Amino acid sequence: MRNIATENYVIEFDSGYKSLTNIINEGNYTKIFLLVDENTKKYCLNIFIKKTKLKPYLIKISSGEENKNIDSCIKIWKSLIDFKADRKSLLINLGGGVITDIGGFSANTFNRGIDFVNVPTTLLSFVDASVGGKTGINFQSIKNKIGTFYDPMLVIIDLQYLDTLEEREIRSGYCEIYKHSLISQTNSKFKQLTNSDKINFSSQIITNSIEIKKSFVTKDKYEKQLRKGLNFGHTIGHAIETFFMSTSNSLLHGESIAIGLIIESYISNVICGFEIKMVDKIKNHILKIYPKIEFNASSTNSIIKLMYHDKKNIDEKIKFVLLKNIGDLVFDVDVPKSTILKAFNYYSS
Ligand code: GLY
Repeated sequence: MRNIATENYVIEFDSGYKSLTNIINEGNYTKIFLLVDENTKKYCLNIFIKKTKLKPYLIKISSGEENKNIDSCIKIWKSLIDFKADRKSLLINLGGGVITDIGGFSANTFNRGIDFVNVPTTLLSFVDASVGGKTGINFQSIKNKIGTFYDPMLVIIDLQYLDTLEEREIRSGYCEIYKHSLISQTNSKFKQLTNSDKINFSSQIITNSIEIKKSFVTKDKYEKQLRKGLNFGHTIGHAIETFFMSTSNSLLHGESIAIGLIIESYISNVICGFEIKMVDKIKNHILKIYPKIEFNASSTNSIIKLMYHDKKNIDEKIKFVLLKNIGDLVFDVDVPKSTILKAFNYYSS
């Protein structure tokens, strides 16, 4: 598989561990730290140690979106201090998007910034967190409210970690791959994925998906406009994720975004004329893969309220990025509540 060079670092596949060794040998690091959660400690740590032969200081935080918060950061900063980390220490993040986001943020803020390397272990983090330099934590129930842009030295994508995942996790990651196909300028990826009844996450599909995300962040790293396209499906999807987080039926990120993709595709039809037959295709494909979730008037209203927290909103208006066609994005669109409700009905119908 081909490596993917970004502005400041390379996303490497088979050669990744060798490059890590080179970075460590040339970087004169005083200490190497490895951030894990209980899952990556159990399932991925052995693979990582076997392949790198490193003996890092281990820092463990609890897994899950609900722990992507300031308390976990404090735990990381305290561990770094306890183990006497200094400005020439290196932090390696071994885990999914929560670990790479919070690890990157902790690295950026410790001693005004230490070097870090990401070793994503989920399909979702392969195609999303691996590129773009966003770091951060959730704050006051608002996703990614506090964060920075800070690039790693290297990202290593090792497909062996996918063997450690449950199918539900793989499905969650596939949603971002599918979203990338909707916002990509060429619709061949969209056709390839939509025409299949199953999820496709071959190494070729993963590489293409990373390339699509890279094309957005290279042109607009700081999300002035184009990068907002990556948020397609996320305005509704994030609110759905937050809503279910406080219930006993919490949804994974991709499971929430999958619903967001259907609802925002329908809104795209109402407001931007995105062909309804395309919206139907998207809905059919997604519902072949993800279970349908029930919404009632009360949950829908709570979700709409949560959207006002979304970081993209200016002056309390809900701003959407919508589609006119595959890869043809419309930015900062106001959507009336009545249209959002209609779109929820479309999803449920
Ligand atoms: N996950 C959206 C972005 O990186 O901009």
